[in-house]
Amino acid sequence: MSGLIKSSIARKVAMALSGLFLVFFLLQHFTINFTSIFSPDTFNELSHFMGTNPLVQFALQPVLIFGVVFHFIMGFVLEVKNRNARAVKYAKYSGGANASWMSRNMILSGLVILAFLGLHFYDFWIPEMVHKYVEFAPEDPTRYYHELLEKFVSPVRTGIYVLSFVFLALHLWHGFASSFQSVGFNNKFSVGATKFAKVFAIVIPLGFIVVSLVLHFNNNH
Ligand code: HEM
Repeated sequence: MSGLIKSSIARKVAMALSGLFLVFFLLQHFTINFTSIFSPDTFNELSHFMGTNPLVQFALQPVLIFGVVFHFIMGFVLEVKNRNARAVKYAKYSGGANASWMSRNMILSGLVILAFLGLHFYDFWIPEMVHKYVEFAPEDPTRYYHELLEKFVSPVRTGIYVLSFVFLALHLWHGFASSFQSVGFNNKFSVGATKFAKVFAIVIPLGFIVVSLVLHFNNNH
């Protein structure tokens, strides 16, 4: 029994740590993408650096992909375990009802983000890998901005991106704040940390929405 509790706590901690790691990724990803709407040159320089630096390509990128896959797999495992546990035991009307609603919400928003990532990899990551490691095309440091812009021509594609970022906000709203609790961060800074997480959950997805819309309308004027 105690082994079970321990392992379920371990799963929550693992979920929280991988989530916090992805939050850092989101922040840097947003920062780079945000430059595209006011300085295409800066965006090109940063993308060129990220796309050609061996440390980023062969160390950080595999860690990131592992982090994404790990977070999704653990999310599904937690969901399945929670459901089973509830069917057998947690039939009390305490916090359980609330937690079950939240966990359903997290798996739903997580699935939307997973679907978005499928589209997003198809849009950017796969062409990038083909460009570099299949075609061995010569590197052009100024190609990134205009490749980016092309992806936001379609209003449907832009709409799907925007909708996905709304779900990203929902996911972060619960996930980021509760990750502090899961890693045992419980002190006088907890209230501030929760507030910070909630602000982040709104500001970053909203920023991604702004970037998508600006790129879309830049195509059409
Ligand atoms: C307006 C919003 C966004 C834009 C314009 C954008 C743009 C890009 C671009 C240009 C790349 C290609 C990087 C490369 O050359 O490999 C990329 C990769 C990626 N993006 Fe986004 N992105 C956006 C939002 C997001 C969001 C919200 C997430 C996560 C939920 C995300 C996750 C990723 C991941 C995991 C990769 C692969 C990173 C790599 O290993 O290269 N992106 N994105």
